[in-house]
Amino acid sequence: MTGKMGSLEMGNPEEVPKQGFSTYTMVLVCVAVAAVVGVACILGTYYLHPAYGNTGDNNLIPVTTVEPPQRDRINCIPDVEIDHEHICMQRGCTWQSTDEHGAPFCYFPENYGGYNVVSEQTFGWGLRLRMERAASRPTFFGDEILTLTVDIEMQTENRLHFKIYDPSNSRFEVPVEMPTRSAEKAENPNYDITYTNNPFTLKIIRKSTGEVLWDTSIGALIFEDQFLTISTRLPSKNIYGLGESEHHSFRHDMNWITWGLFSRDQPPSYKGNLYGVHPFYMCVENDANAHGVLLLNSNAQDYTLQPTPALTYHTIGGVLDFYMFLGPNPESVVSQYTEAIGRPMLPPYWSLGYQLCRYGYGNLSNVQEVVESMRRYQIPHDVQYGDIDYMHRQLDFTIHPTNYVGLGDWVDSLKPEGTRYIIILDPAISANETAEYYPTYQRGVDNEVFIEDENGAIQFGKVWPDYPDVTDIDTSLPWEEQVEKYRAYAAFPDFRKQSAQEWWANEVSMFHDKVAFDGIWIDMNEPASFVHGSVDGCPDNKYDNPPFMPEIWGPTIYDKTICMNSVQQVTYDMKDIHYNMHSLYGWSQTEPTLQAAENATGERSLVISRSTFPSSGKHTGHWLGDNASIWPHLYYSIIGMLEFNLFGIPYIGADICGFFDDTTEDLCRRWHQVGAFYPYARNHNGLGYMPQHPAHFGEEFALEVRDVLLIRYRLLPYLYTLFYHAHTKGSTVVRPMLHEFTSDSNTWDIDRQFLWGPALLISPVLEPETTSVKAYFPVARWYDYYTGMELSHDMLAVGGGVTLDAPLDYINLHVRGGCIIPTQTPDNSTMFSRRNEFGLIIALDDEMEASGDLFWDDGDSIGTIMNEQYYMFHYTFSNDMLTADIAHSYGNLMENLFMDHMMIYGLMEEPTRIVVTDYDTVTEISTFTFDQETMALNVNGINHAMDTGFTLKIM
Ligand code: NOJ
Repeated sequence: MTGKMGSLEMGNPEEVPKQGFSTYTMVLVCVAVAAVVGVACILGTYYLHPAYGNTGDNNLIPVTTVEPPQRDRINCIPDVEIDHEHICMQRGCTWQSTDEHGAPFCYFPENYGGYNVVSEQTFGWGLRLRMERAASRPTFFGDEILTLTVDIEMQTENRLHFKIYDPSNSRFEVPVEMPTRSAEKAENPNYDITYTNNPFTLKIIRKSTGEVLWDTSIGALIFEDQFLTISTRLPSKNIYGLGESEHHSFRHDMNWITWGLFSRDQPPSYKGNLYGVHPFYMCVENDANAHGVLLLNSNAQDYTLQPTPALTYHTIGGVLDFYMFLGPNPESVVSQYTEAIGRPMLPPYWSLGYQLCRYGYGNLSNVQEVVESMRRYQIPHDVQYGDIDYMHRQLDFTIHPTNYVGLGDWVDSLKPEGTRYIIILDPAISANETAEYYPTYQRGVDNEVFIEDENGAIQFGKVWPDYPDVTDIDTSLPWEEQVEKYRAYAAFPDFRKQSAQEWWANEVSMFHDKVAFDGIWIDMNEPASFVHGSVDGCPDNKYDNPPFMPEIWGPTIYDKTICMNSVQQVTYDMKDIHYNMHSLYGWSQTEPTLQAAENATGERSLVISRSTFPSSGKHTGHWLGDNASIWPHLYYSIIGMLEFNLFGIPYIGADICGFFDDTTEDLCRRWHQVGAFYPYARNHNGLGYMPQHPAHFGEEFALEVRDVLLIRYRLLPYLYTLFYHAHTKGSTVVRPMLHEFTSDSNTWDIDRQFLWGPALLISPVLEPETTSVKAYFPVARWYDYYTGMELSHDMLAVGGGVTLDAPLDYINLHVRGGCIIPTQTPDNSTMFSRRNEFGLIIALDDEMEASGDLFWDDGDSIGTIMNEQYYMFHYTFSNDMLTADIAHSYGNLMENLFMDHMMIYGLMEEPTRIVVTDYDTVTEISTFTFDQETMALNVNGINHAMDTGFTLKIM
């Protein structure tokens, strides 16, 4: 029997069969399916009768099943290598060799199922199904949840929430705040829902096209205490997102690849589970509609993508909590997703400037020299960092007593130049200290802030801090030995505890009195540890030795982190084990850190977190971790950046020039060209590698970096406006081309070029010794950013792929016709550039029209949008006239700021007059030039106060 929701026709509870899925039923299904679609039934597979349990070959009963095509096989033994035929049989699965590379030998027969619906109930918000485990299905790892509930909640027209859980509500659920259940379901949803009862399968269908977006009739639904799996057919192979991982293409490779997700101190590496966890994907359907799906689950998990196309999830805890977002285009998917998880923060304006960092400057005078070199070459520089070497023995909230004497005064001295300072803080707090020397730990103990083991004792790992008596470190020793010999015990604050949040805020604030930093970089918060589990390992228990390990790295689940059975606060009155909370650790540190920083600085602050989870973007940005100074990592950084824009963390970038290894001049130059267009533009270097700050390579290089950063600074009003839109509407900042040209399927694979918002296309060089770049241009008018020259239609006609010159010191930038980009004359820091004249780049479309906007506030107050302390300008160009409207204004925010110049690209003829009108004042502008070759008009000296609207007419 099937039920249908949405266009609503639901199963009648009385009709639901109470019996489980039997061997007998399977045979019948086989015959029925075989009759209809001609699929052969293969004899000789076995089904285990429940009465026999799941051990021993004697228990096998031969049954007849339907064989799915090879590419539709869902792996039935994801836990062991392929030579375990007998395990396969015990699980009631089919064992067959395959000639499809990557397809499993052991797979679920069709209609394997898992649970059968026994009752259903409708509510105002949707439907609740009660299910029982199919009696005949073998147990995989034990502790099966025999009864399950499925809640299908039609939250909005475009958002559907479906959750499969244990009705006793005894299982862990992720404490991220999500939209609450409303009494009424969406009236006219854009999806239909159908399901079958025996076994339970669920289909979600896009109403407008009939496209099946989700279909769990493939594989199995298994819900055991520590092994949960569900599979779905996908409507296309255009899958994006799911991370944090080092992906080698933005569009997923669907060729039988399994990716693990579990927060880990893991530098980018193919297939490694990296720092954050984002079980969210976007799918572009073959007809160019798009939808997104979140699995809100924080346990160690993996997912497999296969060419069916299909997706299989395995997770080892929690519940199966899904949200689907119907789009129907990529930008609306991200907007709906961030509406649910929380919109990204609005970063302070200064944080859009260029930032410089390295691990191991060694001492303050080295840092001063680097900052000085930036000034010498007048390279824009907004933020300088202190990595862990500013600390005393790498203890948070301390200053190195010899190497960083005077740090506080020096940071103060930066302020008049507009240079900000960000400090690193690690969560691990050294415990081998006396109260006299390290009160931070003692106060933590007094306030019971630390994560405890199962007996209530503080759980100790080891991270950076050295033992108090360590002066020299023999780095030639093997790493494990160094950790043993030099590293102190470290305790991990439980940031979900109120006491820990207060303690942290207090430490941050006291340190701010010594060093007036502007933002906080929270590192190592997976949480990372240099020993595995605690200093004494981990006790033998089912969480530290789970029966099923997803494809995550490390020989144990507690590899490089703390024990899974340590105890953490979840909500104010609920605790749970680290096993469930692990991937939420960085997430839990973020909000309290932002609050602490804003409390200390009294301004809008910035937090950069290494570990993130859905909704982290509300409070933090992210960098892509410890990449290497190699060319492929330059390319992958674009993919990572695009993915984090999908994840609702648009404030994202990679370490410019690379972290590990010595960089090269060529790589570092090209990396600055790309990095100038990272939303978060930071050059960061690892310990002991050759310097890579811009001045290091000499004057010519420094000036090249300066030039590309000046372009960035010129465009910062546009970038900031994009962040405003991300913050208020959930749009992406850096955008894959497919978001703007979804109906052009050529764009679905493009990940070597990217857009800033809708308007600016960046086509960088990503290979060594290369001076040209192959770029794709979807149908539109495109103008060279530098000259205003339109790309000729002849060039574009050749399939849109164009080879562009890209000399070493040059990055190709193009402006899309129809867009207006606000600009400002650049300067050495945003403090200065924010005082300069504004401009507009107006790129006309085929209709000779364009539009754009500008958001402006003071850049560093908290809550400017909520408090309406901003200006919003709308610019439109049509009928040869630019209209500058002020949609929102605030006090004297724009005092002394002027609109000075405009570039208008794509005109048909040279104007003879230009007139600016403001109310009744008409001003003739004579300072303009027109380039006959490019047909670009350059108007200067407009000198119009920003706080009033005006028109500019071309005649
Ligand atoms: C690891 C971080 O990923 C890296 O950026 C930092 O420099 C080192 N920790 C030292 O703090």
